[in-house]
Amino acid sequence: MRINFNVPPYTGKEFDYIKECVEAQKICGDGKYTDLDNEWIEKKTGVSKALLTTSCTHATEMAAILAGIKEGDEVIMPSYTFVSTANAFVLRGAKVVFVDIRPDTMNIDENLIEQAITPKTRAIVPVHYAGVGCEMDTIMDIAKKHNLLVIEDAAQGVMATYKGKALGAIGDFGNYSFHETKNYSMGEGGALLIRDEKYVDDAIIIREKGTNRTLYKLGKVDKYSWIMPGSSFLPSDMNAAYLYAQLQMADEINNDRLKSWNAYYEELTPLAEKGLIELPYVPKECVHNAHMFYIKCKDFEEREGLIKYLKANDILPASHYVPLHSSKAGVIYSEFRGEDKYTTKESERLLRLPMYYKLTDSDRNEVITRVKEYYEKNV
Ligand SMILES: Cc1ncc(COP(=O)(O)O)c(C=O)c1O
Repeated sequence: MRINFNVPPYTGKEFDYIKECVEAQKICGDGKYTDLDNEWIEKKTGVSKALLTTSCTHATEMAAILAGIKEGDEVIMPSYTFVSTANAFVLRGAKVVFVDIRPDTMNIDENLIEQAITPKTRAIVPVHYAGVGCEMDTIMDIAKKHNLLVIEDAAQGVMATYKGKALGAIGDFGNYSFHETKNYSMGEGGALLIRDEKYVDDAIIIREKGTNRTLYKLGKVDKYSWIMPGSSFLPSDMNAAYLYAQLQMADEINNDRLKSWNAYYEELTPLAEKGLIELPYVPKECVHNAHMFYIKCKDFEEREGLIKYLKANDILPASHYVPLHSSKAGVIYSEFRGEDKYTTKESERLLRLPMYYKLTDSDRNEVITRVKEYYEKNV
């Protein structure tokens, strides 16, 4: 395809930083660049501790361990999300309980959470779709009232805020993704954000295979040993180095993406005004990060037609999640509590347009022209 859906971010400094790790023979985890990335996240978000991980998937698994999720527990989340949001809890024996989304933001409907709570509920997992924050004040109030933990899936939320607070830093835990499809990348990677100091020591041990190796490296113990169940959740410093080159330029990357997002929005507004498509909605409490630009077609058939048309014109768009409750594993490990009024219907008509750092004006205009053309010719 001439215009791809995604191009991994690259700033130019990545190789220099990776070379430095290689030449210094410091390529395992928790080196200079991992520290720099953690500090950057802590400073940006205000959390007690950020720990770079091998993926957002693993950050969520760490959060599930720290939250003490166990067999028989229930965890509430939207079905319109990536498999990892659910897997992390299913791996611990919990049942995933889905509630419907809001059609305007595609985020969990905060007004449906309370009725899904039972004595078995332990946590709420809001997913900030497209880097647009969920209604966090309401969610935090519900969690407080029912003594539940909040684990924010902020895979797409780096640099985005809700009421001035960084996504991922509002709940008890937050999870970032630095996969190559995200605004800031290290190939595969993520981070666990910990709001409350009391979880930090255990998190450090869990991430280092359940050992106190970190204390050993700091010279605080003579030998390191097995302290509690854990796994290998820390990435190589070479990957961390790739990421740091981008975090250093986070504002520039964010502004570049916002420029594309705003141009899409403006240029496609006439189609929305004619009632042909719907455009994304950003609540006034939220500052988004242009992670994604999507439109909503009338229905599934129209969307599939548009995908075909764009592909025929060398442009690669993308649909998104197939709701988890309708998947093979979802049928076994989850329950949709309440009515699926919007989850399936809205997911079937959503289409993501190419969006990445350094998307050129001419390529973006080409996408816009072809979308408009499709509606002129076909609708
Ligand atoms: C909402 C959500 N959560 C979690 C993930 C998993 O991220 P990772 O690939 O870093 O494990 C993704 C990946 O796209 C995602 O969209």
